[in-house]
Amino acid sequence: MKKQIVFFTGAGMSAESGLATFRDMGGLWEQYEITDVATPEAWSRDQQLVLDFYNQRRKQLLECEPNNGHRLIASLETDYDVKIVTQNVDDLHERAGSTDVLHLHGELMKVRSSKDESLVKQLDGWELKQGDLCEKGSQLRPHIVWFGEAVPEMDNAIPIVQSADIFVVIGTSLNVYPAAGLVDLVKPGAKIFVIDPNSPTVNKSVTNISEIASKGMEELLKYL
Ligand code: OAD
Repeated sequence: MKKQIVFFTGAGMSAESGLATFRDMGGLWEQYEITDVATPEAWSRDQQLVLDFYNQRRKQLLECEPNNGHRLIASLETDYDVKIVTQNVDDLHERAGSTDVLHLHGELMKVRSSKDESLVKQLDGWELKQGDLCEKGSQLRPHIVWFGEAVPEMDNAIPIVQSADIFVVIGTSLNVYPAAGLVDLVKPGAKIFVIDPNSPTVNKSVTNISEIASKGMEELLKYL
């Protein structure tokens, strides 16, 4: 039986690929108001503004490549049972070759019906327009968990986190709940590493690797 290593990743994981984080200096939430672009109320008020914001994110993502941190995680699948629980909506873990990725906050390259959330489909390019409809005739929206919405994938994430022998947090400020609460569910005895240049506070005994994701992953390999 291979040991189970679970990665819990956030925006810092993709920073070296050229995607801005949310809460660092110059981050996305400094440039946009959450209430303008990432809530159900924003969607009701100004669909075009919300569509523009996510179209922009998608366009940028299509120009990005996974970084060495993503690739090192994927390479661990040879020796470990590797699972990823990510807050990221990009597909860079998958493009780096990781095969078991759970997206807590949705996926940028997917869209879904605004009336029936089970109707999800992959988008080919970057643009979702007003008038793009689901098969039931309602407007398609980004497949993103907005502030104020439930996080349905939490139910699937919890058992994954609880079964980790090694738990590695990478590039998240641990500001957003319920996702940030997952760290509390790691079983006693499991080793926890935190890779982040700003070492967010965790109320558990952890090994901090205060490095960017790619360098931090190289360090982590020395510990494993
Ligand atoms: P944040 O922007 O809150 O935190 C980013 C973290 O990445 C910080 O702790 C940085 O120190 C760290 N960081 C920056 N550059 C890094 C690098 N090169 N390598 C490693 N770490 C680096 O992003 P998240 O914690 O992911 O939700 O934000 C959580 C959620 O808030 C997101 O999923 C998003 C956002 O609103 C939704 O969109 C629903």
